[in-house]
Amino acid sequence: MAWFLVQWFSLSVLLFLTLFYLYMLIVFQYWKNRGVVYEVPTFPLGNIGFMMRKSFWDYFYELWQRHPRDYVGIFMGWKPVFIVQSPELAKQILVKDHEYFQNRYLYSGYSDPLGSLNIFTVKNPIWSSMRHELSPMFTSLRLKTITELMNINAQQLVAKIKRDYIDGNKIVDLKDLFTMYTSDTVAYSVFGIRASALNGQKSPLWTITSHMVKFTLWRGLEFTMIFVMPAVAAFLRLKLFSAEANEYIKEIFWNVVNERKTTGKTTDKDLVNHLLKLKENLKLPVDTDTELADNLMIAQAAVFILGSVETSSTTLSYCLHELAYHPEAQEKLYSDIDNALNESGKNVLEYDDLINLKYLSACIYETLRKYPPVTYLDRVCNKTYKLNDEVTIEKGIPVLVNVVGIHHNEKLYPQPEVWNPERNESPTSDNDNIQYTFLPFGDGPRFCIGKRYGLMQIRTALAQIVHKYKLEPTFPHKVAVDPYAMILSPEDGLSVKFVSRAN
Ligand code: HEM
Repeated sequence: MAWFLVQWFSLSVLLFLTLFYLYMLIVFQYWKNRGVVYEVPTFPLGNIGFMMRKSFWDYFYELWQRHPRDYVGIFMGWKPVFIVQSPELAKQILVKDHEYFQNRYLYSGYSDPLGSLNIFTVKNPIWSSMRHELSPMFTSLRLKTITELMNINAQQLVAKIKRDYIDGNKIVDLKDLFTMYTSDTVAYSVFGIRASALNGQKSPLWTITSHMVKFTLWRGLEFTMIFVMPAVAAFLRLKLFSAEANEYIKEIFWNVVNERKTTGKTTDKDLVNHLLKLKENLKLPVDTDTELADNLMIAQAAVFILGSVETSSTTLSYCLHELAYHPEAQEKLYSDIDNALNESGKNVLEYDDLINLKYLSACIYETLRKYPPVTYLDRVCNKTYKLNDEVTIEKGIPVLVNVVGIHHNEKLYPQPEVWNPERNESPTSDNDNIQYTFLPFGDGPRFCIGKRYGLMQIRTALAQIVHKYKLEPTFPHKVAVDPYAMILSPEDGLSVKFVSRAN
């Protein structure tokens, strides 16, 4: 009997695998049948069998090198995916015909409340009312106030550099250093907490962010599956934030709320009050359970932490790395900052002074051009869409804009591997996407809500560092990308040598 059961089980598995294999062979004809040039897929993962061995950033970079054309088809597992690689089509998908591409493809399910209820993952119609409610949190006025705090934190950053890496002779891990800086800022801007990880104080936010940005094999896989194989992520009930980060964020949020209730002190400077109002303003159905409504608030805090820490600290790290290799750009930047400080008579540059420093912006934009932290922009087609006379995109097909590819297109950016802030076409303002050739923050209604906040936190740190220190290279110029990380990250970290300037 046991022998019979074993036989029966083995045959069933064999039959299932054969049927699955045959099904995949049919699916893999999808792009061929529609006359779209595509990458030849292999069983069972399609074109993403490289996962955890190579980064998605490298894959999309190479995809463009292999197929320098407006669009190309790939397969993520059994799902046919349409990749857009031209600025004109990016405009069409992200802006002009946004109504066909309102949501992201990634997993957004109820088994992961903080991961699925935040503004990055949530789908329409909730998304549009949420965006409407959250946008006022990023006005120029609020940003000006937060810039003051960013400057205080940047002063502590500069002091830590002297203490640890010049006097203390320690080797700096830039990503770690900037994660502390951005965590200190986000602690204040989201929760109103003034704790300084940079000063060696115990910071609850640093505990969370250090968990968020460390990608072990498992966390890397979990995060990646959420983005590229949402059906599997749903089946396995995977989570966008680690269990530890989930718990810490909830704990901090409720501690702050309870303390404010007890002391009666309230403020509009951070996000806590806005988030408390959010659940009323969203007009959730009356029978919505309290846990869901609470999770909806905390999920926004969580995504602001993730959005502001990882991307900005990556950009700052690569920018210092490139400046170390470009002493002439460093000197130009230094003298611009020095002149602005002398003219203003202040000891740190404020919001308007920083915005007006064109070369500072040019260095940051060029870093975001060469190293866009977010590899591709993610949308899914929500109703059948005629792209042109040759291609119709069916409902349910993911459409990804290859940002790395567009930023490394040599017709748009001659010698794309060269970091050159002098590029003629560098944007004239933070809102200039140069005809959709510059997309580090995405575009259209779902563009990055924290763009100006992110740029300002990079400006404050960079201006103060470059004014105090010369940077010299310690790493090879070309650095490998971490294969576990979904957002660009250097595999072995990044470092520079800081040398004090005589000022
Ligand atoms: C250098 C810094 C940053 C970069 C490069 C960056 C990049 C991006 C990109 C590419 C997107 C997707 C846009 C699209 O699909 O069109 C995005 C969305 C988003 N980002 Fe950022 N980001 C940065 C800083 C921030 C900051 C500081 C915050 C929060 C304070 C933030 C919060 C968000 C949120 C909430 C979304 C989702 C918006 C929506 O779907 O409505 N980001 N970001």
